Amino acid sequence: MPATLIIGTQWGDEGKAKVIDYLSNDMDIVVRYQGGSNAGHTVKVDGNTYVFHLIPSGILYPDVICVLGAGMAIDPEAFFNELQSLELKNIQYKDRLRVADNAHILLPHHRLMDQKSEENLGDNKIGTTKRGIGLCYADKVARVGIRLADIYTDSFYTKRLPHLIENKNILLEKIYGIEPLKISEVSDYLKEYAEKFQKYVVNVSYYLNMELGSAKKVMLEGAQGTMLDLDYGTYPFVTSSNPTTGGAIIGSGINFQFIENVIGITKAYVTRVGEGPFPTEIMGADADHLRKLGNEFGATTGRPRRVGWFDVEIIRHSARVNGLHSIVLTKLDILDSFESIKVAVGYELRGKRISYFPSSDYDNIRVLYEEYPGWNEPIHECKNYGDLPKNAKKYITALEKFCGVPIKLISVGPSRESTLVKNKS
Ligand code: GDP
Ligand code: IMO
Ligand code: MG
Repeated sequence: MPATLIIGTQWGDEGKAKVIDYLSNDMDIVVRYQGGSNAGHTVKVDGNTYVFHLIPSGILYPDVICVLGAGMAIDPEAFFNELQSLELKNIQYKDRLRVADNAHILLPHHRLMDQKSEENLGDNKIGTTKRGIGLCYADKVARVGIRLADIYTDSFYTKRLPHLIENKNILLEKIYGIEPLKISEVSDYLKEYAEKFQKYVVNVSYYLNMELGSAKKVMLEGAQGTMLDLDYGTYPFVTSSNPTTGGAIIGSGINFQFIENVIGITKAYVTRVGEGPFPTEIMGADADHLRKLGNEFGATTGRPRRVGWFDVEIIRHSARVNGLHSIVLTKLDILDSFESIKVAVGYELRGKRISYFPSSDYDNIRVLYEEYPGWNEPIHECKNYGDLPKNAKKYITALEKFCGVPIKLISVGPSRESTLVKNKS
């Protein structure tokens, strides 16, 4: 059976979770493949709001198995807190959760180091979520990380862990001014979580490829978005993993040939949280207005999100990097009251027209805009594509033409029902 991949095409918070929840009805397994508790994925169903950080957004369907993939940085405290909040909302998860044995464990000192490192960067700070993500992945790449599988072997505690901690303590004390770690305390911490995690741990690549081979339908859930990708985003103002298609293959361990459908989630305007380039950013009162209409405040940190006009160049970049087959356009309803709507249709870099997203020199980008008339009426109750006002359809058709990717679904509200299938009026 083919796998479906869901990717954020902008700087995150595109409404991925809403779409994943909507599409999960048809799935057997939903897999998060990268990131950690930096993600904030909001699902609204029957008047209830759920915000997921580590748990895949398919969890609300009682028959869907949810998997935390190998590409993730898993903070045990955040994970078990999230399970508790599922219990409080009466969501049964016990037989439906799997965690990759080669996922990395994020430890409390990663969080402390993230905070310190942001302080030390001063004006150059990244604006991270301070969840320790970058520091956990740094250990992974430096080959001094700890994976779930490690904490079940005796030799890890006797041989590798003491060595890892002695080295980490040099860094913690001398560079970060953080209390050194005690080997026995870290060891106890990991042993306690080893027991708690045990019932969920799987060899994820084996498990998922077997399930796909026996006709199970799998959806891969990205966190963050393409412009936050470590390699294809606005480096260094990015996250420390790969939310793009390449990251989905690595982070899930599935045979790439199973992936038949890559869906890009794209907001009808753009937002970004944290520092870094944002060519179509809107400032001042207009920004406050759009932020308020869209309730653009971080689902993880509560920070106000920066807002801007739809940027075709980043979606074309996203389509190239990810191999998008289609787009789901979200939050179109937020533009209901605008007289006219700007769309960035291209860039000039130092006076020359370019047709790619540059890797630096962002201050010298000049954005070329076109304006589209607004529709000035509420659309959140539309049930079919044909119900949308003429100008809303014109806006969608223009985006589709500029981006070169078909828009197949349109979201006009946070609930499952507020989802329109294009071409079926
Ligand atoms: P994610 O990180 O990509 O899953 O997105 P977030 O959950 O961080 O942010 C998206 C926000 O927009 C959430 O509060 C959703 O409930 C909400 N949302 C999603 N789609 C729509 C939509 O079409 N219209 C409106 N008004 N809200 C939406
Ligand atoms: P979802 O999955 C929006 C941003 C942070 C910061 C940068 C690096 O909800 O779309 P990190 O803590 O990852 O080291 O921070 O990435 N960021 C997000 N922005 N949505 C997210 O996730 C994000 N996860 C990280 O704000 O700019
Ligand atoms: Mg989010």
